[in-house]
Amino acid sequence: MTTGPDLSQIYQSFIVSTQQLQTVIQLFLHDMREGLAHRPSSLAMLPSYLTKPTGQENGIFLALDFGGTNVRALRVKLHGNGQYTVLERQDAPLAAPDGSYDYTASSATAAELFDFLAARLAALTTTGQHYLLGHAFSFPCRLKSIDDARLLYWTKEISTSGVVGENIVALLNGAFSRQNITHIKAAAIVNDSVSALMAAAYADTFTDIGSICGTGHNTCYLEPAFALAAGFCPMYVNMESGNFNKVSGNVFDDRLDKNSDRPGTGRLEKMCSGRYVGELLRLVLQELVQDKKILATQQPVSLPPNAITGKDMALVLSDDSQNLEQIQDWLLRYGLTQSSYADRAEIQKLAGLIIGRSARLVAATYAATLFHIDPELSHQHVIAIDGSLYEKMPGYAGTINKTLKELLGEKARQIDCRLSKDGSGAGAAIAAATTMKIHSVRNDG
Ligand code: BGC
Repeated sequence: MTTGPDLSQIYQSFIVSTQQLQTVIQLFLHDMREGLAHRPSSLAMLPSYLTKPTGQENGIFLALDFGGTNVRALRVKLHGNGQYTVLERQDAPLAAPDGSYDYTASSATAAELFDFLAARLAALTTTGQHYLLGHAFSFPCRLKSIDDARLLYWTKEISTSGVVGENIVALLNGAFSRQNITHIKAAAIVNDSVSALMAAAYADTFTDIGSICGTGHNTCYLEPAFALAAGFCPMYVNMESGNFNKVSGNVFDDRLDKNSDRPGTGRLEKMCSGRYVGELLRLVLQELVQDKKILATQQPVSLPPNAITGKDMALVLSDDSQNLEQIQDWLLRYGLTQSSYADRAEIQKLAGLIIGRSARLVAATYAATLFHIDPELSHQHVIAIDGSLYEKMPGYAGTINKTLKELLGEKARQIDCRLSKDGSGAGAAIAAATTMKIHSVRNDG
């Protein structure tokens, strides 16, 4: 019995043509403009109260990079000449692999989560010295100032209670007080896309776009004239581009969205980011195995939701062994014991299409952002990108570059996409440094 679409139809449904990407550019540009004008738009265009660093900010600062999967606490030295050194860095998962804690679940409270974060930071410091902290918080926040950021909603399937609508800086400072941590002051809160951009712009002033291609997806850029009550000023704008909703998805995208925590939101992120690409492959495989369109001799097995991660996708794509043995071993983990070479090749092709589509769509949003800043593309631009997908997924960075060429032609030569490795952490330290003028606290860490 065959039911669903056949393999070639599924392949086709993950392919986006150049023409479709050109349409994405126009629709994205439209939503950028509407968002900037405070009209209804899928792009929130949120102010950061930050602009280009001078490159001369210096001192030792703390940074907290709260991404969604892990939290990273860093002690960073800014040398004042565009260079920085991460002096110390500690990572901890937000959900323990052994299940002993999960600060991302709705059963966890804001106090529990922020106490955990405060303790990670305190472990990096010596009492008696004072530190300013920059907090890269990788979720949509409406800022009223550099240290007042209200969480609009959770993304990436996180649902910790009591955080939405609250001021994140106050929650962290509250945790410091509860733990008698008086030597750390949260001075700046910044979206991770903005901090990745700050870290790169600290060294290179041509950097005007920042992006995260990791667990989540988002892009920010330097808006030359952002409207504030007091007038127009240059500002890094967090577009929350993962929420862009004008790319039509296929049946698997719709299924994934329907089963997610917040259906109807984060549509681009759910098509592109590391949190979801594995789930898309799982949904496709589940259907193909059930319909016996691949692994035909295999007893149907049920692949539990989220069983396939972005890391698994990287493993599948990196298998260049003659018989695709890595993929064969990987399938065994799910009880898929009967794979032929052809099955494994199909799976690799599907993974490639899902990842390729992600990179192509992301590239189209970069092209739109470039056209907004520089309609004739008459200047040089650097796009600073952080995140595991960009850094580690085979073929990802290359596909972004290729697609930019396809969309921008010769002008693509002026665009340089660069990995801003760990930029989201270091950039938060730079953001904290820019507030030095307004903080009287001693910063001699
Ligand atoms: C969040 C963004 C964040 C991005 C990358 C998205 O889910 O909404 O604020 O920048 O993930 O971490």
